[in-house]
Amino acid sequence: MQPNDIRPLAVVTGASSGIGFQLALLAARRGHDLLIGADEPLEQAETELRVLGANVAAVRADFATRDGVDTLLAATEGRPIAALFANAGHGLGHGFLDQDFHDVQHVINTNITGTIYLVQCVGRGMREAGQGRILITGSIAGFQPGSFQAVYNGSKAFIDSFAMALRNELKGTGVSVTCLMPGVTDTHFFARADMLDTRVAQQSDKADPAEVARAGFEAMMRDESGVIAGWRNKMQVALSRVMPAPRLAEQHRRIAEPGSAEQQARPFV
Ligand SMILES: NC(=O)c1ccc[n+]([C@@H]2O[C@H](COP(=O)([O-])OP(=O)(O)OC[C@H]3O[C@@H](n4cnc5c(N)ncnc54)[C@H](OP(=O)(O)O)[C@@H]3O)[C@@H](O)[C@H]2O)c1
Repeated sequence: MQPNDIRPLAVVTGASSGIGFQLALLAARRGHDLLIGADEPLEQAETELRVLGANVAAVRADFATRDGVDTLLAATEGRPIAALFANAGHGLGHGFLDQDFHDVQHVINTNITGTIYLVQCVGRGMREAGQGRILITGSIAGFQPGSFQAVYNGSKAFIDSFAMALRNELKGTGVSVTCLMPGVTDTHFFARADMLDTRVAQQSDKADPAEVARAGFEAMMRDESGVIAGWRNKMQVALSRVMPAPRLAEQHRRIAEPGSAEQQARPFV
């Protein structure tokens, strides 16, 4: 990646679609060069980002593996990273006992292990440089037991907590950490999680990934600890803090159970 002293470098994982692609667009519009990564082809994203004047490099790799993350970081060729968007993640629908453990492990390795390994590697460089911004994509799902998405919600509970703790650890170092906690957002997430027959996937008023990304980007630039994207999601998180966990698990069942798309209940995620 050719050094360009004027444009700071932003690294965005999960940039081939959804919230990650929107974060990359915002970073390009705000004058960053980009290193983007995902495990599917990125040519389309690269082309659209270059139109905005950014120098763009892309790495196709599986960020559930340390090798995949190392391949991404090697592509910076030692250029300092000004902003990291640790966004790559995916879900997994169906009952836990019916899931293939390889798929379960891949959710944990993508959403937790690969994400925090990336954050540790980049965070060390930023701390040494005395500056940098990190936005980690968690979820409001982290505030609720996720019946029929149990491992996913658990992984986001880890990330929501981890991001806040790391932010505190890095106080005074010049490195900021912000956690973006979206609610139900209109992306490929539900197709990838094999949840299209669920009520949550069929929900008509999903959030716009561009708006969710903007909320995260702005919160990171304002050096805020976290942002829950959208007032309804804020209400739901507030509710989840007072509702008994068994009630929350039952509500998640009603929206995520396979085949639940038929019933017209109000979702709670
Ligand atoms: N959509 C929602 O309702 C929602 C709500 C809360 C939080 N989130 C979180 O938001 C983040 C972005 O998801 P999204 O909704 O924008 O869904 P999306 O459109 O499916 O985007 C996910 C991105 O992450 C990449 N990715 C996933 N696993 C990967 C892996 N192992 N290695 C490399 N790349 C990987 C995907 O790459 P490919 O597509 O190229 O495989 C894609 O670029 C995730 O962390 C998700 O958990 C989503």
